[in-house]
Amino acid sequence: MKIIDGKETAKLIKEEIKAEVAGIIDRGDDPPHLAAVIVGDDPASHTYVNGKEKACKLVGFTSSIYRMPDETTEQELLDVVTYLNNDPEIDGFIVQLPLPKHIDENKVLETIDPKKDVDGFHPVNIGRMALNLPSYLPATPYGILQLIEHYKIETEGKNVVVLGRSHIVGSPISILLGRKNNPGNATVTMCHSKTKGLKSIAKKADILIVAMGQPHFVTEDMVKKDAVVIDVGIHRVPSDETKSGFKLIGDVDFDRVASRTSYITPVPGGVGPMTIVSLLKNTLKASKKEVYS
Ligand code: GUN
Repeated sequence: MKIIDGKETAKLIKEEIKAEVAGIIDRGDDPPHLAAVIVGDDPASHTYVNGKEKACKLVGFTSSIYRMPDETTEQELLDVVTYLNNDPEIDGFIVQLPLPKHIDENKVLETIDPKKDVDGFHPVNIGRMALNLPSYLPATPYGILQLIEHYKIETEGKNVVVLGRSHIVGSPISILLGRKNNPGNATVTMCHSKTKGLKSIAKKADILIVAMGQPHFVTEDMVKKDAVVIDVGIHRVPSDETKSGFKLIGDVDFDRVASRTSYITPVPGGVGPMTIVSLLKNTLKASKKEVYS
C-alpha cells in the first residue's frame, strides 16, 4: 500500500509554478492576477479564500479579494462580476460559494466570462470539458487528475467507480476519466443515492473515487484487493485523540480500508491540498491565454 501524498505533490507543483512566474517577471511581463469575490461571513469560505490568497503570494501571483457584506444584493454582485469581466488587469476570478440564499448562484456563475472562469464552473467550460476541448477544469477533479499523473496510475481500460454526482466533483471526474485522453480512457460507473447494489459495484472498481459527503461511508467490504482509493470527503468530527477535541476524517474508513489498497489518499493531506494548486494552474493558463486566445 502506498499513500498518495497530496501535500507533497501540491508543494512540488507550486514550486514549478513559482519558477515559471519568476521567468514571466524576468521577461518584464506582469505576473498572473487572480481575484476572488466573497459575499457574507461564512467562516469556512473566509478560510478558503485566505488560503487561496496565501498560495498566490507563495508563487508570486497578484491577488485581489473583494469582500462584500451578507446583505449585498444580487445586482450589486452581478455588477462586480461584470466589472471583473472587463478589467484587463485581472486574468481570472472566482466567486466563492456558497452565496447567501437571496442570490441566484447559477445566474452569478453564468455571468462570469468563461475566459476568466478559473473555477471551471461556467456551463461553457463544463461543455467544453465534456467535448474534450480546451477548458478550465474544476479544481477538485483537476487535482485528482494531477495526483493520478504524478503517481503514474494507469487509467486506460480500468474500471473506475465514482461515488457521488455533485456538479463540482462526481459528475466532472466521471466525464474526465471516461474521455479519450490520458489520464482517461477508463470505463466509468457513477453511483449516487438512488443506485441499487452500490456496495457490489464499488467492489468491482480498480479505481474508486469517493465524493459522497458521508463520513466513513466506504468500509473494507466495499473495496477490491489492490484497488486505488481516492477520498474527496472531509469532515470535522469530535475526537478525544486531539488537543482541539476535533479531527478531520474522510468518506473512507482509512484505518480499515488502507491495507487492502495499492494506493490511497489520506484525509487530510490527500486531495484537499491539490485543489488550490488547480486554481493556480488555471490562472496561469488564463494569463498565458492557453485555453482561450
Ligand atoms: N466553495 C467550495 N469549494 C469551492 C470552489 O472550488 N470554488 C468556489 N468558488 N467556491 C467553493
